[in-house]
Amino acid sequence: MDSQAKQLNEVIAAACPAVMDLLSRKGREIYFPKLGILSQSAEAQGKAINATIGIALEEDGNPMHLACVMSRVQLSASQAVSYAPSLGTPDIRKQWKAMLGKKNPGLAGKSFSLPVVTSALTHGLSTCGYLFCDPGDAIILADLFWENYELIFSHACGARLDAFAMFTGQGRFNVEGLRARLMAGKVGKKIVCLNFPNNPTGYTPMIEEAHAITTVLREAAERGNKLVVLVDDAYFGLVYERSVFPESIFSLLCDLHPNLLAVKLDGPTKEDYVWGFRMGFITYGIRGGTSAVYEALEAKTGGAIRGNISNAANVSQSLLLSAYRDGTYATEKRAKYELLRSRYERVKQILAAHPEYTQEFVALPFNSGYFMCVRLRHADPEQVRQKLLTDYATGVIAMSGIVRLAFSAVPLAQLPVLFDNLFRAARDVKKKG
Ligand SMILES: Cc1ncc(COP(=O)(O)O)c(C=O)c1O
Repeated sequence: MDSQAKQLNEVIAAACPAVMDLLSRKGREIYFPKLGILSQSAEAQGKAINATIGIALEEDGNPMHLACVMSRVQLSASQAVSYAPSLGTPDIRKQWKAMLGKKNPGLAGKSFSLPVVTSALTHGLSTCGYLFCDPGDAIILADLFWENYELIFSHACGARLDAFAMFTGQGRFNVEGLRARLMAGKVGKKIVCLNFPNNPTGYTPMIEEAHAITTVLREAAERGNKLVVLVDDAYFGLVYERSVFPESIFSLLCDLHPNLLAVKLDGPTKEDYVWGFRMGFITYGIRGGTSAVYEALEAKTGGAIRGNISNAANVSQSLLLSAYRDGTYATEKRAKYELLRSRYERVKQILAAHPEYTQEFVALPFNSGYFMCVRLRHADPEQVRQKLLTDYATGVIAMSGIVRLAFSAVPLAQLPVLFDNLFRAARDVKKKG
């Protein structure tokens, strides 16, 4: 093992020994190189002649750039075309941390790492796979999950998705299902993945459910299990009901127990409607986490990123930093939230106004996010999807026995038509038998 990795491991082991049990083999061995090109480059900064840099410079010392590129962005060349550091630009990392505190009042007074910049959540999740998943590891999660988890965790890491039924018969989050998975088998390393608002269901736990999930995780940690809880907050903030837990569950988990490492995966892709900017963050929190431990975890994360994509797009980091500092950001964001919320309300009204729809489909619990799902009573979801495409010019997603509808993407006026089409298509398919 490289001596730089050994040093990071010693720092982690001294204050948070459980984290060493949670890191994968690759996670234990990775480090962010302080020696070599990066340190030699850093030492040369500010010298009259600097022939260390891995980009091309103009004669005046600015990053080399094409006018047809730069004329399209209101940023300096170094903000737009230069590399960002592997851990992300320091200013956007600090800004996001401050914003996390504002968006999650429950984080007040709690210690957690500086967020590390990723190339959006998918890359953050896959970096967590690198750092925490060994082949054969199980990932405990609800059975209604984003299908890309299979590529990220199963195919790329050789992990196994160990799913529990997401809802009870009463339509509540199945906390007991989570408990059963956590308590099954030997006491040891457990990886959990929580995603709220959830894709595909659009469900976020109620306030008491979020506390019940936390209690179950604490019990598992108190038993001696070592837990890494991945908190996929892709749709953070899009909560539409008062009784729903309004913060990230990371607020409850980041200082829960010395045996539980909470890892928050979030970013502006969905929160700030910049899906193609490919920018996200990984943030760590553990009871007893010192700044040295957080820096060591950040360094390992930075090493995994450097060896994979090197660094996330600088232009996205610079654009968003200036947007977050813009006085209109909060109002503009609120307006988009209100639009999505009004679509959510419209869906609720449509379902309430059409009891006949329940002859063909029932809605799964939903209260947040981009989506809602229905379970068809008689017809096969894939056949209904085909019927909708051919006869009703309507596209939906059919998956594991349900149909997912992205109300986030359908204008208000078309929502009644969407549900009517679904009802008709389900009836057509049922009649055909
Ligand atoms: C639950 C969930 N997590 C993560 C992602 C990935 O988001 P990003 O575009 O930031 O990679 C998605 C995207 O659909 C998602 O639904």
